[in-house]
Amino acid sequence: AYVITDPCIDVKDGDCTVACPVDCIYEGGRMFYIHPGECINCGLCLSVCPVDAISWDEEIPQDRVQFKAVNQDFFGPD
Ligand code: SF4
Ligand code: F3S
Repeated sequence: AYVITDPCIDVKDGDCTVACPVDCIYEGGRMFYIHPGECINCGLCLSVCPVDAISWDEEIPQDRVQFKAVNQDFFGPD
């Protein structure tokens, strides 16, 4: 799944939610989160984020790798 990381915090541009064909991007307190079970890995959200907050979960930069769990935890255990 794709993952939203720290540049989204307090930016919350929201264009990713418009781009997502399956509406699996949800607004949280200070950022948005991608539901890992609903994301179809289409990659459409990646290019629209103005702050490059979205990463493919197998290619997340080392300093943002914790956001994989942050996105998952927002939705709770499966
Ligand atoms: Fe939605 Fe596609 Fe982005 Fe997944 S990769 S969050 S399905 S736009
Ligand atoms: Fe956040 Fe970028 Fe979406 S700032 S809300 S991940 S377009």
